[in-house]
Amino acid sequence: MKQLSNRQILLGITGGIAAYKSAELVRRLKDHGADVRVVMTAAAMEFITPLTLQALSGNPVHTALLDPEAEAGMGHIELARWADLILVAPASADFMARLANGRGDDLLTTLCLATPAPIALAPAMNQGMWRDPATQANADTLRQRGVALFGPAAGEQACGDIGPGRMLESEQLAELAAGLFNSRALDGISLSITAGPTREAIDPVRYISNHSSGKMGYALAEAAADAGARVTLISGPTQLPCPPRVTRVDVISADDMYKASMANMGSCDIFIACAAVADYRPAHIEEQKIKKQNTSMNIELVRNPDIVSAVASHDQRPFTVGFAAETQDVIHYAKGKLEKKNLDMIIANDVSDTRIGFNSDENSVTVVDPSGQQKLEQMGKRQLAKQLIDLIAARYAEQKRDHSS
Ligand code: C5P
Repeated sequence: MKQLSNRQILLGITGGIAAYKSAELVRRLKDHGADVRVVMTAAAMEFITPLTLQALSGNPVHTALLDPEAEAGMGHIELARWADLILVAPASADFMARLANGRGDDLLTTLCLATPAPIALAPAMNQGMWRDPATQANADTLRQRGVALFGPAAGEQACGDIGPGRMLESEQLAELAAGLFNSRALDGISLSITAGPTREAIDPVRYISNHSSGKMGYALAEAAADAGARVTLISGPTQLPCPPRVTRVDVISADDMYKASMANMGSCDIFIACAAVADYRPAHIEEQKIKKQNTSMNIELVRNPDIVSAVASHDQRPFTVGFAAETQDVIHYAKGKLEKKNLDMIIANDVSDTRIGFNSDENSVTVVDPSGQQKLEQMGKRQLAKQLIDLIAARYAEQKRDHSS
């Protein structure tokens, strides 16, 4: 399996002789399945041309913060949210200093400040510059803030010196980047997720459904598998491909989804209900296509089972997480559902905001549990899914500890 399939990597290139190796790095990242966009600093363009990187990445190269043309395409905030990882290779001493000081004086530093994604640097510089206490202090500051530092390696340098400061080889950097996606926070855990809409048949050709795309549930399934969980994705009809290392169970109606969900009870440690389940279904499915009526027609509807409530009241109840898609008083209603459905956690989002939620690629949510609430600002659904899975894994581990003490 390609280790970076579907990963969106923003490759930052700063000014250093190792920038020539960044062309090869783009190739390696793409070989591993990543979608790569390149951002270059002004100094980087003295060493390698944007055209080379554009041809290799297959995407336009971003070079300026205040470029109206670029902002009209993918603006800098959008780019910061697009990234699943920002990898800066080579990272010069000057870039590290600016990042450690929180500067936003060019596109790349601004993206690093704005992004919710992890950041990794591959330092590359003269050995004296690397050993300098100022650079070492900046490296420590960045590490403490969670920035990953890949290398540098030691050896012969372009300037003739021998010592630490060489950029790691492209293949090594691609492997290290892939390693950042696997948190192992859910190693050995079985996790089920419902996703997508359900379809409630009226007759052989018609049904009642909703606009859910399934994107959030699929992103959660992928993030959970990356964290080491055995994932069963119980999916209503969607257009999405099954994420790698995930077992998908395809269902159509709420009733099918209910049966598939209950079939996993006993072996399921965590259950996440992300599906937009139809609340009602037609009381009878007509065997033949219903003929047009003259003026109006009535379809009698009956309530569907509430899947997440049934899971939460099961004898072998897993850690149960629900979603609350609301258009007003979002937190108030979410808290009500947390209690009423007896959930361990609920993830609330405002679906009246068309920039997020149903069908969009971005979302912003508030996570509510009995101990309080936490807002996660707007970001890409895959990045958000990773943060949600980390939160779920942490709460699940806490609850297990409390129960066993
Ligand atoms: O009550 P409401 O539909 O707003 O609750 C939303 C939450 O309940 C979501 O987690 C959804 O997946 C779940 N749900 C369910 N079965 C239903 C209806 C909702 O699991 N029939």
